[in-house]
Amino acid sequence: MLKSLLSFAAGYELFGRMLGGPAGRVKFARDYVKPKSTDRVMDIGCGPGMMVPYLHGATYVGFDASPEYIDAARAHYGDRATFVCDRVSTATLDAPGSYDIVLACGVVHHLDDDEAKTLFEIAMAALKPGGRLLTFDGAYVQGQSRLARFMISRDRGQFVRRAEEYPRIARSVFKDVRMDVRGDFLRIPYTLAVLSCTKESA
Ligand SMILES: C[S@@+](CC[C@H](N)C(=O)[O-])C[C@H]1O[C@@H](n2cnc3c(N)ncnc32)[C@H](O)[C@@H]1O
Repeated sequence: MLKSLLSFAAGYELFGRMLGGPAGRVKFARDYVKPKSTDRVMDIGCGPGMMVPYLHGATYVGFDASPEYIDAARAHYGDRATFVCDRVSTATLDAPGSYDIVLACGVVHHLDDDEAKTLFEIAMAALKPGGRLLTFDGAYVQGQSRLARFMISRDRGQFVRRAEEYPRIARSVFKDVRMDVRGDFLRIPYTLAVLSCTKESA
């Protein structure tokens, strides 16, 4: 029931707001993305575009495979951002080597290891030297509360991992990968692995 509600953009946005998602996105933007208005940002699996308000007017292109999510994104933010309904691949990248920031928020846990590696390769190809990929995904960690573990286990993503598994995959593509484990992004007990991956400067 909840999973089918979340497949609708309005249900996904409402559920996110109820759980305190906007405050978590403020923290994610402040502590990790640190966007500047002059940045070019690509958002892989952008959903209904819920990161747009937190990017300080940076130039933004969001990609998502879901027409429903892209329609909602265009309705809310089409005046200040570009949205493309497509699965991104290295072959279809609009502007390789031109992005300061790539985001993939809550996407990697929907992908198996090979697909996740491909996402990191796409981000690497999209970024300028010195550019950064930022991701966050639900994660299992030792000592986590039972409630957090339960909530994470109910996620729609089929590939929720132990926290250390996310940087392991990222390091097959990026040399510089840092991970923080955060439990303060949502109003409910929920553990997120946040990755910051930097492309080497030329
Ligand atoms: C949990 S939603 C996250 C949405 C959004 N990033 C957010 O922060 O609210 C995961 C999204 O990833 C999209 N997705 C998964 N794999 C994708 C791919 N290869 N290319 C484009 N979108 C993808 C799905 O359609 C879905 O909208």
